[in-house]
Amino acid sequence: MNVNSPVHMVTRLIDSMDLNALRAARSEATVPQTFSSASFDVDLETGFFPRQPLRALTSEFALWEQTLVQARNVLKLAADRGEEALAKAGEGEQWRQRVRSWPLLDVKKLGSDVTTLRRAHWVLACILHFYIHSLPRTQTEGQTIIPRPLAVPLYEVSRKINLPPILTFADIVLWNWEYKNPEQPLTLDNMRYINVFSGNETEENFYLLSAAAELKGVEMLRIIERVVNMAGHLDRNAIASITRDFEQLVKVIGDLAVILKEAPKTVHPHTFYWVARPWWNGSDDASPWVFEGIPPNSTPYLSGASAGQSTVMHALDAFLDVDHALKHARQPAPSEDNKRAASSNFMQKMRLYMPAEHRDFLVELQKRQVRDICQRTPALRAPYNTAVEALKKFRDAHIITGTLFIISQAKSQPPASMGIPEAITPKEGQAMGTGGNPVSTLLKAGRDATRRTMLDA
Ligand code: HEM
Repeated sequence: MNVNSPVHMVTRLIDSMDLNALRAARSEATVPQTFSSASFDVDLETGFFPRQPLRALTSEFALWEQTLVQARNVLKLAADRGEEALAKAGEGEQWRQRVRSWPLLDVKKLGSDVTTLRRAHWVLACILHFYIHSLPRTQTEGQTIIPRPLAVPLYEVSRKINLPPILTFADIVLWNWEYKNPEQPLTLDNMRYINVFSGNETEENFYLLSAAAELKGVEMLRIIERVVNMAGHLDRNAIASITRDFEQLVKVIGDLAVILKEAPKTVHPHTFYWVARPWWNGSDDASPWVFEGIPPNSTPYLSGASAGQSTVMHALDAFLDVDHALKHARQPAPSEDNKRAASSNFMQKMRLYMPAEHRDFLVELQKRQVRDICQRTPALRAPYNTAVEALKKFRDAHIITGTLFIISQAKSQPPASMGIPEAITPKEGQAMGTGGNPVSTLLKAGRDATRRTMLDA
């Protein structure tokens, strides 16, 4: 036997640890129920992806599906003044006119099946973003009007599934695909993204990159479920098993970091910034969105789609108990920038853009207090800390990605193909994320909050 193997070392640590502490940990950590991801619409084969792609809407709602297909052929970003965009401007206006003159469909006829309602959210939110981001500047001065036949059904469908009436990460990544071969399981090679706003490879590759992280998340979910259930009944075997799971988790988080580091191989930063990302933007102060037919102020959550809404990363945070909100006094003390970022409550707000069941999953996970259990169990502190360290390294890599894809590009000029004659003056101040937050401060605050999660060994 290898006496230096992690499991053997753990056994020695347990032998030498205070058994009273173990007993105390066991009794305090006892939780009433088995934690089952499946109760929260999480699949241990496909993670946060639905097992089957959402089926296209039929009957009168096929109108929405057809309108979305047409949009992909004719609409360009309002800022695009290139030859192709100018040639298509007339058709684009006709498309928007058709949306304005749609009949007002009754969403009650969609029924209550959640997958149908999700498909309706996806199709309407995609149309919304095509509509808004292609509108000529002259039509968005002071405010951006969303016409009633689009605004009302989107608002009502969103209410039914407890999501904001805007494009979310779930819409662009979790629900926006179909199988290449439906007989085969869900893998990166066997999925095709359906709605790619710009039609550009970089945008599709960004979805695939995000999908790669989601599929990696499946392994993470299995580990989390095992650890959470074992942590409720600590004995020597459980501690050894949890230790192995933390080691496995370190590898999974390392793989997530590799996905990020390799992003520039398939996602072109300049194209990403200028051609793909503007389609996902949310409402802004210069031209706030107004939903016709909806009472004012009833649509407060209108941040643009962001990978910050991926439940995978939030699950890691909830499991390890990363304190983004600075509720606990942990060391080292937060900087002024950290405090400013925490006050925006970004991570908490991002949960509102997740499918409701996934949001509940996070709440339940957080209740399991794995960090506290590891704190009280000396043999688990080091294994726990290695997972936190891996997550901190992921966030280091994410800062580099954010710098390359957003902060540096914010100082660049749009591509010549967009035909913008006059030089665009780089914006003053910090570059902003699609969620409307200063990128650098926010990402560093996440990294620092992760560092503060480490236990004293
Ligand atoms: C080209 C790739 C990526 C870029 C350019 C990028 C950029 C950003 C930016 C700018 C933010 C700030 C928030 C906002 O959107 O307003 C952010 C947040 C976030 N992103 Fe990414 N991201 C990328 C890929 C990913 C991937 C693959 C994941 C998941 C594995 C991810 C997870 C997150 C999370 C969880 C946050 C919230 C802040 C944090 O946890 O530190 N991102 N990202």
